[in-house]
Amino acid sequence: MQIPNNHNSQIGHYQTKYETNLYLWVLEMLRVFLWSMQRQIFDSVFAHRKTVARSCHGSGKTFVAAVIALAFLFTRAPCKVITTAPTWYQVKDILWSIINQLYKRRLMDGFPGKPQNTRLVVNNAWSAVGLSPKDSHNFQGYHSRNVLIVVDECPGVRKELINGLKSLMSAGNAHCLWIGNPVVAGDVFYVDSHFISVADAQKPGGTG
Ligand SMILES: Nc1ncnc2c1ncn2[C@@H]1O[C@H](COP(=O)(O)OP(=O)(O)OP(=O)(O)O)[C@@H](O)[C@H]1O
Ligand SMILES: [Mg+2]
Repeated sequence: MQIPNNHNSQIGHYQTKYETNLYLWVLEMLRVFLWSMQRQIFDSVFAHRKTVARSCHGSGKTFVAAVIALAFLFTRAPCKVITTAPTWYQVKDILWSIINQLYKRRLMDGFPGKPQNTRLVVNNAWSAVGLSPKDSHNFQGYHSRNVLIVVDECPGVRKELINGLKSLMSAGNAHCLWIGNPVVAGDVFYVDSHFISVADAQKPGGTG
């Protein structure tokens, strides 16, 4: 993990401390507990380039995506986190509503960045942004050594936009998370992906 020297030494300390245990970062920085399916998704995104998670409604997919977006943003720099969903409403009021709530917790005092609606910007080279563009060209330009793409409700995202997102995966350390219910398994993008599927009976209460 690398953090620019001009940022607060506290962040550098976090990098060393959590390098081998990112979930500890989640527990200590966000005070969030992930249930087993969420933990699988969390671990998979950092271990694999492509993760596809499909499960029943209300199982916590979007929530863990928000946690992953913050963990990725604050454990590698420079980096770009790009999130999208079929509509602007879904980007702003669902995924980014959770990101903003988590970021505003006092435990994150001292972290760099300024949250604004669907943007959390540290500097030009280090940011997270939520987009729901009409045109795939609007995804262009978000290049970085470290890239995370999160696609919420992916079955509803237009094919043309998916092609635009694919081009962002050319970064050396690019990871993506596709979440939805259901996910169309035959889509060419899902080739080589790490799949996580959760049935209704496996929701919390069943597995913890
Ligand atoms: N680990 C958790 N800790 C606290 N709250 C959680 C956790 N996981 C999920 N939630 C809450 O549970 C609710 C449902 O989660 P979420 O919206 O992420 O589910 P989902 O699988 O994305 O649902 P859908 O299939 O409808 O999109 C939300 O209010 C979310 O904030
Ligand atoms: Mg959701």
